[in-house]
Amino acid sequence: MQRLDKIIADRTQYTRSEIKRLIKSGTVSVNGRTCLIADEKFIGDEEITVCGSPIGEKRLYLMMNKPKGVVCAVKDNMDKTVIDILPEKYKNRGLFPAGRLDKDTTGLLILTNDGDFSHRIMSPNKKIEKYYIAETDKPLSDEDIIRIKDGIELKSGTKFRGAYAENLESDENFRVGIKISEGKYHQVKKMLAECGINVINLTRIAIGDLYLDVKLNKGECRKLTNIEIDLIFFSKFN
Ligand code: URA
Repeated sequence: MQRLDKIIADRTQYTRSEIKRLIKSGTVSVNGRTCLIADEKFIGDEEITVCGSPIGEKRLYLMMNKPKGVVCAVKDNMDKTVIDILPEKYKNRGLFPAGRLDKDTTGLLILTNDGDFSHRIMSPNKKIEKYYIAETDKPLSDEDIIRIKDGIELKSGTKFRGAYAENLESDENFRVGIKISEGKYHQVKKMLAECGINVINLTRIAIGDLYLDVKLNKGECRKLTNIEIDLIFFSKFN
């Protein structure tokens, strides 16, 4: 059971003081009955309206360790989607992926039913950095690192914003860490291909300062905490 004001706070943009005022002024109803008590308790599946409009679904924010072979879409006629592999309790909750990873890319994916939140993560203007680790057939040269830092332009005219790249320690193959602040189609693979480097495996490990939980197996997901949500937006790098 949850307090009425908390339920409304979780599912709307109103501040706590606005909610108190709205409840006091008789504009909130629960299953058709006006409710004037902010701390009255409810299950949460009641029909709650504010000024006559039903409040939305509870906003959900999940972190998934995306496996290979599933697509970042809600529905797809050919492939399994990241929504298809969610536990039953998260299906039919209006969730969608906040951003896209290729079918063969693994790692950190955020799923939400909050459109504004998703826009803030994906918008290139917000410059939220996404950190990828690529297993490659070659290491970066010093010249590649400078080209990536200055912003690579493809022959097609596509220009990528300057990004950070580094060679990482590796026992097998080569490993490259790369941080980008926009999300153009196949961006990491294209940037490295332009340097003559092929990506064998690609995984995203961070968005802002939020890192993939290493305890999540491929395909698993869990709710983000409020602190983790803040880490996305208040990164020291942004
Ligand atoms: N860049 C890519 O090339 N692929 C991804 O999935 C993400 C970033």
